[in-house]
Amino acid sequence: MAKVSYIFVAIALSFSASVLGLTKETYEISSNAAGYMINGQVENTNAGLRIPLTLNSNQKNAATNLYGKTIDNLIVNVEYETEERLHVKISDAQNKQPVVPNSPLGLIRPNITSYAFENRNYDFEYTAKPFGFRVIRNSDKTIVFDTTNMPLVFEDQYLELSTSIPKDANIYGFGEVTAPFKRTSNVTTIWARDKPDPFYGNIYGSHPYYSEVRDGKSHGVFLLSSHGMDVITVDGRITYKVIGGILDFYFFVPKSGTAGDLSIAYTDLIGKPMMPAHWMLGWHHCRYGYHDIDAVETVVKKYKEANIPLQTAWIDIDYMDQYKDFTSDPVNFPINRMVDFGKTLHEDGQSYVVMVDPAISANSTYEPYTRGVDMSVFIKNPDGTDYIGAVWPGYTVFPDWWHPNATAYWEKEIIDWVNLLGVDGLWIDMNEPSSFCLGSCGSGKINAGLQSQKVLDKEHAAQEAALNAMGNPKGETRNLLYPKYAINNGAGNLSEHTVATTAVHYGNVPHYDIHNLYGYAESYHTRNALIKHNDSIRPFILTRSSFAGSGKYAGHWTGDNHSLWSYLKTSIANVLNMQMFGITYSGSDVCGFLENTTEQLCTRWMELGSFYPFARNHNNKGQIDQEPYLWKSTAEASRIALNIRYTLLPYYYTLFEESNRLGTGVWRPLFFEYPNYEELSSNDVQVLLGSDILISPVLYENATTVDAQFPIGIWYDWYTHEVTVNNDAVTKVTLDAPLAHIPLHIRGGSIIPAKTPKYTVGETYATDYNLIIALDNTGSASGRLYIDDGESLNVASYSDINFVYENGQLQASGKFGYSKPEKLSSVTIIGEKASQLKTATVGNTRAKKTYKSKHTGNSVVFEGFSIDLTQTFTIKFN
Ligand code: GLC
Repeated sequence: MAKVSYIFVAIALSFSASVLGLTKETYEISSNAAGYMINGQVENTNAGLRIPLTLNSNQKNAATNLYGKTIDNLIVNVEYETEERLHVKISDAQNKQPVVPNSPLGLIRPNITSYAFENRNYDFEYTAKPFGFRVIRNSDKTIVFDTTNMPLVFEDQYLELSTSIPKDANIYGFGEVTAPFKRTSNVTTIWARDKPDPFYGNIYGSHPYYSEVRDGKSHGVFLLSSHGMDVITVDGRITYKVIGGILDFYFFVPKSGTAGDLSIAYTDLIGKPMMPAHWMLGWHHCRYGYHDIDAVETVVKKYKEANIPLQTAWIDIDYMDQYKDFTSDPVNFPINRMVDFGKTLHEDGQSYVVMVDPAISANSTYEPYTRGVDMSVFIKNPDGTDYIGAVWPGYTVFPDWWHPNATAYWEKEIIDWVNLLGVDGLWIDMNEPSSFCLGSCGSGKINAGLQSQKVLDKEHAAQEAALNAMGNPKGETRNLLYPKYAINNGAGNLSEHTVATTAVHYGNVPHYDIHNLYGYAESYHTRNALIKHNDSIRPFILTRSSFAGSGKYAGHWTGDNHSLWSYLKTSIANVLNMQMFGITYSGSDVCGFLENTTEQLCTRWMELGSFYPFARNHNNKGQIDQEPYLWKSTAEASRIALNIRYTLLPYYYTLFEESNRLGTGVWRPLFFEYPNYEELSSNDVQVLLGSDILISPVLYENATTVDAQFPIGIWYDWYTHEVTVNNDAVTKVTLDAPLAHIPLHIRGGSIIPAKTPKYTVGETYATDYNLIIALDNTGSASGRLYIDDGESLNVASYSDINFVYENGQLQASGKFGYSKPEKLSSVTIIGEKASQLKTATVGNTRAKKTYKSKHTGNSVVFEGFSIDLTQTFTIKFN
């Protein structure tokens, strides 16, 4: 069977945006499946309905046991969890199928005490024979999900369910994958894999979630499953083919139908994105392959000399002693130098992050290994011995995050290390988990030193034999190594380049069932360890592998991309996907990781990357250098774009607070904000920062213009304040974009809080606030500013200020709870009417002060205010 999988790889590589190249097995629905029918009484429960099903085996030519053992009796539990969220769980009547474990990892399944029998925005309908169901949006009777007339297959190692969707439906989501944002005609395979971002192939994260925009309204569907699966999106249907577990569906049907409310509903279930501290919003720099600490120090120095703002210096695995976690190379990265480096960064108001990998070197003289062995905390072979893989340090073991000792084990290692080094955060990588053998590298292989990938590859046949010989975990009857339905895993065999599916976690749980949760679980434990280390500040974790809900613990970078124009472009869709998956603090490696970048590509990437929610330049070992100060145009572009980012820090921070509280995106697709304009539905070359800043980057080599779409309303050029468009339909404009210039536009009607950009985030935050008021066609605007101390885990005091500008008057109201005095010192008003304004008067008639405008044109600036942001105020403009 392993061979079959390899054939799939070859086929998968040969298809582009079409499913036609895929085997029929993947692409087609099981049309001769038996299906199920209602068997007995449908019961009303306190949550909704309970529907017993049995196999419809008398159907003519019906096939059973397609790819596993057919399960005859099922229960459908329909639960009206909230007015906007429906839970439909189809499980085996005997509850033997493995489900996503609930604890101790804080995974979802909320405790619900009262169900939404009234005022629901959805209806649930079903057919009896064969069983099928529909989810209907109540407000307009749209059928948002429809499994009727589609086969339902429920076997121990193969589950299949399809929904009809309209032709050319606007489907977004399913990941993690590198693909156009709008998903048409392809298969998304979900099986966490360490692979440098192949187009359409499965990579690091697992998000069985999609949203659809139909007739201007959004709804979402989440399959809570940690099993491997293929999801086929073709004209007219979506088909799930899952290799285990149950069909645990959640449907989100927000009443407003907005994408924002859909994000809120989805993250109500999976958890809200974590709140970054101020410093995390600054610019980050990293690379794999800095030879020693001197090299890293030089980079920090040169950034400063070039006046390119650098907030955080990162060190990759290079610092480790033979790539062992929690050690430092005594020659090139001596520990005292590592510690001093951190101290200097902090003295200069900068920050410090290093990498930690989950795999622990299997070496009996290495304490993180021996301590873990003593605690029995590593993943096991079916025979109970420690499972051995191979990662950077050579042969390794892997913490079993589900083991009751995992918390104590990881806490000690993490806290000791973070204490010693004084770092501000951790970067957790290779947590799919990645391992360089086909499954086990061989039991008992410890103390064996480094092995190159070439040597390991030579042992491939032996690894496969070892894998086969290892057998199944106790009591397990499924074919975990070679499930009959082979998902379209790009690596071929499920155990290729990762931990074997037959390896055993605590409680005799095979890796097969929870593979996709490994990175999520590591993020959970790492966050808790960092909070235990210091519970007063927000922890920083960047994770490569993720699952639904990872955003509450960590941010994410999109993994190993390529220094190619196509990857600059696709980074937009990658980041937008993460926004939808609730991991709003995300970004791609700026200037590209693999391959050599070029000046022009790096310049354009710095321009766009300066606006990623998480913004970091990162490079691979062996590629040419790509620090932004190396080329004139790149340095210039970086200074300009990063100064704008730092100007916008209060706007970013306010967006992140909203994201943390509600679950909304920091980056947003144009179509999600303007869903009634179908012509925006495939636009993944521009992006909205919040609702108010439109980013239109150059994504093609040698281009010096951008063909941009503008949604309705007035859009002002960020740099000149001129009106670029004022329209009541989507308008196309070709924008000038010479090298070092990224077109940015402000939405008329918005008020944007800003700062004066300085070298570090802290220095920038120490300046007074400024407001940028961009007027709409009625001469009005509104906006929001959130303020707290920018670092506390539990925020003691904060201000949440709403600004409204109307009839020449700015009114600030809301909550003014933040204890430190913060000042507003300038206001810029942009708009046709603004140019006529000459004076600004602050306060009442007794204590008023009048200010004169600085310059005219399409905007005016009033400077010199000293307004305390501690209470409501108004400014009258004349
Ligand atoms: C992985 C990571 C990459 C890192 C490298 C070395 O490839 O994705 O970001 O630089 O490992 O640690």
